[in-house]
Amino acid sequence: MTLTATPTEQLKIVIVGHVDHGKSTFVGRLIHDTGSLPEGKLEQLQQVAERRGVPFEWANLMDALQSERDQNITIDTTQIWFQTAKRQYVIIDAPGHKEFLKNMITGAASAEAALLLIDANEGIQEQSRRHGYLLNMLGIRQIAVLVNKMDLQGYSQERFAAIERDYRAFLKTIDVEPKLFIPIAAKHGDNIASLSPNMPWWTGPTVLAALDQFHVGQPPEHQPLRFPIQDVYRFDDRRILAGRVEAGVLRVGDRLVFCPGNKSSTVKTIERWHAPATDRAGAGESIGITLTEQVFVERGAVAALESAAPYELKQFQARLFWLGHAPFAQGRLYKLKLATQEIEVELAAIHRVIDAATLETVARPNPTSVARHEVAEITLRTRRPVAFDTHAEVAATGRFVIVDGFEVAGGGIVAPGKYPRRSSEGHPKSDNLYWSFGKVTAKQRSARNGHPGCVIWLTGLSGSGKSTLATELERELFNAGRQAYTLDGDNIRHGLCADLAFSPEDRKENIRRVGEVAKLFAEAGVICITAFISPYRADRELVRRLFDQAGGKFIEVYVNAPLAVCEQRDPKGLYAKARANQIQEFTGISAPYEVPENPELILPTDQLTPTEAVARIMDYLHVRDEDTDISI
Ligand code: ADX
Repeated sequence: MTLTATPTEQLKIVIVGHVDHGKSTFVGRLIHDTGSLPEGKLEQLQQVAERRGVPFEWANLMDALQSERDQNITIDTTQIWFQTAKRQYVIIDAPGHKEFLKNMITGAASAEAALLLIDANEGIQEQSRRHGYLLNMLGIRQIAVLVNKMDLQGYSQERFAAIERDYRAFLKTIDVEPKLFIPIAAKHGDNIASLSPNMPWWTGPTVLAALDQFHVGQPPEHQPLRFPIQDVYRFDDRRILAGRVEAGVLRVGDRLVFCPGNKSSTVKTIERWHAPATDRAGAGESIGITLTEQVFVERGAVAALESAAPYELKQFQARLFWLGHAPFAQGRLYKLKLATQEIEVELAAIHRVIDAATLETVARPNPTSVARHEVAEITLRTRRPVAFDTHAEVAATGRFVIVDGFEVAGGGIVAPGKYPRRSSEGHPKSDNLYWSFGKVTAKQRSARNGHPGCVIWLTGLSGSGKSTLATELERELFNAGRQAYTLDGDNIRHGLCADLAFSPEDRKENIRRVGEVAKLFAEAGVICITAFISPYRADRELVRRLFDQAGGKFIEVYVNAPLAVCEQRDPKGLYAKARANQIQEFTGISAPYEVPENPELILPTDQLTPTEAVARIMDYLHVRDEDTDISI
């Protein structure tokens, strides 16, 4: 390095732009013009070029640095530094480092400012638009747009003004306001470190001066405390929970809650590596803590103050950018990484697919997947509760990545939504509840009834025949001397679930309540028949688990009729309304139906009469007219 004193302040930046827009040249120039190159490097490369009889290219410099980085010789493997008198800059997306989009989305590298390169020759490309959109999505507000290769446009002020006008207009539609546009010619160093004699009309700053005007952000100490646990170490009999304080401040004596799971304890000490213990750690610091009472927590848990805990849910709305070669598809499981949590996740619903370059809604009817380079507004559903915040509240716990196989295939941010807080907040759940045990056993009940209780869970599209089958089955069972009772979707929605609509959350709650009621019926010894669309696999699985835990029997029956058949039957005229956009989120039309994976029975009602279909269920239950003993 030719500069001796290293400024202490550091700003992380990204330089984004179309691959051909001269990024390598620009970065090479930037590093050289700030005197940040290793001594003799430039001369060495110039000599190499001369020996080979080829002109020296600035981009070669980056290639050379890249190969050194690959060999891990002089320079850090992922980042490139340069400095001005004011501060040091870290370019977190060094050219040749294709992972930058991923890194930005994952937050593995978080930039505070961005330089967006546009080619004056080619103008605004799809990618320039996409990058603008991404910077906005990731919350990078300090942006300067560099209009490069001005030399190829005769340093024309008009050309520059035209590009500025068009790109500003686009950025405005996504609420991005760049601090400024600067005309440059990276190859010749115009307006990079010094003002260019080729563009006397330019009265603005150089790139370096513009960079120095950006601000270094403060770590988000004012936000609620979020301390995601990375590892748990044992030393002697002490357990140290290690991680990085992502937001807020953590102090000795704080009462922490670990989410998800709601375990609480108090901070006893704050430990640091190679530094004395302190009683305070702020955002950005990597620390270890010990607790006064041991609680079992693992990597993934997010520690927060009890008074301001993150959401803890299995479903949230998100804005997602997909990078995977294979599309992000419904009906498959992926891995969600959010802070240090790793949880299985599926794409529950797609609300809108956006082309990031045009910002237009992609016109695909009923999309069931998100393709590479598309942005989508979606609902994600996880297998277990996940602790999160909206991105606007806390960035670190408000962004996530989706892993497909071993590859980070997409990432995004948690969108605002009406998320219920943990049930212990706001509506305190009583701790003073006790289970009261009855004196009549399940065995006694089934002995009297001649059969045990269970649930026959009919699931399928509206119009597939659930209610018809439920009514017929109920009568058949009744006539055969069994205790049977039907819970029907439309009926239950008049009373118990009258407060619920058809959003994924409401349907989930609908099915949860019905599941609980069905379980009570089954415990009372009744064969409970339910007729609900219950479109989400995870919701049905929850009910199944409820029965498993209680030792009851859950018989899932997939009432399967093709959508076209249901729509043709349209017994309530609802499909027609849904097609006319008079009903929102209608299953099969504008909301998904997730086919059961392993149902106990499948009844193709387009091929069976109701009598035949009911007979199949009766067979499954081993109900014969003369039978007294029913083996469900
Ligand atoms: S579920 O999805 O939560 O299981 P449920 O079975 O209770 O639905 O209710 C479905 C019934 O509500 C349908 O048979 C239909 O009569 C009516 N309905 C009204 N709006 C909708 C909608 N948007 N999607 C599905 N069903 C609807």
